[in-house]
This record gives sequence, structure tokens and C-alpha cells, in this order.
Amino acid sequence: EKGGYDYFMLKEIQEQPAAVADTLRGHLVDGRIVLDEQRLTDQDLRDVDKVFVVACGSAYHSGLLAKYAIEHWTRLPVEVELASEFRYRDPVLGRSTLVVAISQSGETADTLEAVRHAKEQKAKVLAICNTNGSQIPREADAVLYTRAGPEIGVASTKAFLAQLTANYLLGLALAQARGTKYTDEVVREFAELEAMPDAVARVLETVEPVRALARELKDSRAVLFLGRHVGYPVALEGALKLKELAYMHAEGFAAGELKHGPIALIEEGLPVIVVMPSPKGRALLHSKMVSNIREIQARGARTVVIAEEGDETVRPFADHLIEIPAVSTLLQPLVSTVPLQVFAAELAQARGYDVDKPRNLAKSVTVE
Ligand code: M6R
Repeated sequence: EKGGYDYFMLKEIQEQPAAVADTLRGHLVDGRIVLDEQRLTDQDLRDVDKVFVVACGSAYHSGLLAKYAIEHWTRLPVEVELASEFRYRDPVLGRSTLVVAISQSGETADTLEAVRHAKEQKAKVLAICNTNGSQIPREADAVLYTRAGPEIGVASTKAFLAQLTANYLLGLALAQARGTKYTDEVVREFAELEAMPDAVARVLETVEPVRALARELKDSRAVLFLGRHVGYPVALEGALKLKELAYMHAEGFAAGELKHGPIALIEEGLPVIVVMPSPKGRALLHSKMVSNIREIQARGARTVVIAEEGDETVRPFADHLIEIPAVSTLLQPLVSTVPLQVFAAELAQARGYDVDKPRNLAKSVTVE
């Protein structure tokens, strides 16, 4: 049932193009984005004036990424919060608040309790979930299912990419409800999303050097991840994968924060993985990140740079260059996350660990 792979996780990484495609399927009907379940009126969606995203772990990172797309497309303010923190700080919620709960399992206790708290405060709740009939979608007012199929590996991979996909659908649905995007724009964005499974498949075809690099770096003491804009949550996700699978100290930073502290960590030979923005789509950020990479390389870091194909400016500063297809900025996490998953899985295996069942972790965390 592992389809010829030693671990479910490796199979699940390969299943990501299908997870994205299946999550999109059927959601554009006559130019409109439709949800899977909607116990809310269209007026309720139109009335939303604030969005909170609550989730844990990788699902939280997908939520951080949702903020970029939803705010940009809808002009609604979006706050993203760890589900375990949310209800303990008396968040300001009301009838026009939409709380989006993201969960692969649909059973995560922290997220479920956050949903209950939101409902008590009369907020509307929308679930993005991979498990039909699980508790979180049952208690929600609306549901978008991620159709990644069962995820067995403890580390979330295909469910994460499916969550990103569902988040984009939600952003488009809200934009349409509020009138911040016209039908033709929604149709165009949807078509771009439909091209993503092929882009992800291309990344998967070219990850062999990432595997070799992971084996080479298996004895590193720590690995740092840097990103900016949507690259920042991707960096956090890359670090989480490495922590949970390889039991290695790994940390993700916003590249702009480097000089506010983390640059002190840079020492000779320390691997630093940098997720670059597009040189065309985000030229200013790109040039700032090139300076960041120069700085850390000058201080001895071993730079591993994930950059768009054809990004020549970054080449001189990359000890290792990992190329990803050029896609629009907001969608880039769908391709930039994949090499980081492969890196963590391979490095953990090189250290002799079981990547499906990392120590101390459970697939779904049903206690708070
Ligand atoms: O089932 P959920 O999506 O609610 O789970 C949330 C986290 O426990 C989960 O994403 C966890 O962080 C993964 N092991 C990360 O790979």
C-alpha cells in the first residue's frame, strides 16, 4: 500500500499534484467559486468584516499563507492565530467575524476548542479539512474539503499543499461575495491554480540534487531557513519538517529580521536555506534578499537557495541552487515548499529515522 515506497510520507509527497488538482475540482461552477457545504447565506459571506484563521502546526503555516492571498484579494483584515492561544486571550469576535479553522484530521483538540469558542461568541465558522465527517467540519457553518486523500505520515505534506489550495479557493469565494473580484478575474485565477499540479510535478522531477544535498548535510548541528513575504511561512514550514523528522535544531526567520538578532547565529559552515521571491514579481524584495544572502555567505554560512528558474542574480551567492518554476507570487508556496519536504525526509532517513512515525508525535493531537 506504500506503492513501492519505503515510507508513506515519500508516497504522499509524490501525490501532491493530485492533491492540488482534486481539491480544485468542481469548485468553479458557471464562473462562481462554490464551497462544499454552506450553512451560511450569501449575505452572511458578504457581511464578513474580519477573518481569523486558527490552526496548529503545518495547518497554522498554511493559515499564515492564506492571509497574503485573502487580504490581497478581498481587502478584508485577516489575523492568523495558533488555535491553542486563540480562546485564552479573549479575541474580539462577533456575527460578522469569519473564523476559518484549518485541520487535516478535523479532530485536533486545540482547533476544535477554538471553533467552539468562536461559535459561543456568535462568529461564523468555516472549516478547511481533509477528513469527511470529522468533528471540526461537523460543528462548522461552512466547509471546504481538501481532497488530499488519507495522510498516513505524521508529517503533513500533501494535506498542506491541499490546504494552501483550499485557502486560495476561499479567498476567491470571499472576493466574489464582496465584489472585490469580477468573474473574469476569478476565472483567470482559477485557471492559474489549475496549472499548479503540473508545476508541482515538475519540482518533483527535479529534486534529486536536493536529496543528495540532504545526505551531505546530515551531520549539521542546525539548519536555518529564511524567507520573506510568502517565503517566510514557507521557511517556518521547512524548519518544522526538519525538527519533527530529523530531530535537528531548525528555525525559520523572516529575512528582514536577520540583523535584529538571528545573524548572530551565523557561523562557518552553517547551512542556511533561503526561499527567494520572484525577481520579476517582487523585484524590490528580491534585491533585499540578495543582500541578505551576501551577508550571511560573507560570514561563512553555506547558502542553499531556492529560486525561480532563470534567476541569475542570485547564482553567485548560492553554494547550492535549487530551481523552481516561475509562478505567480501568491501561489509560489505550492512549489517552494516541496523541496523543503524532500530535504527533511531525506535528511531524516540519512540519519536513520522512521519518517512516518517520528518520536514523541501523534498524527492527530486530540488532547489540549
Ligand atoms: O490534523 P491537523 O491539521 O489539525 O494537525 C495539526 C498539526 O498537528 C499538524 O499539522 C502537525 O504540525 C504536523 N505533524 C506537521 O507536519
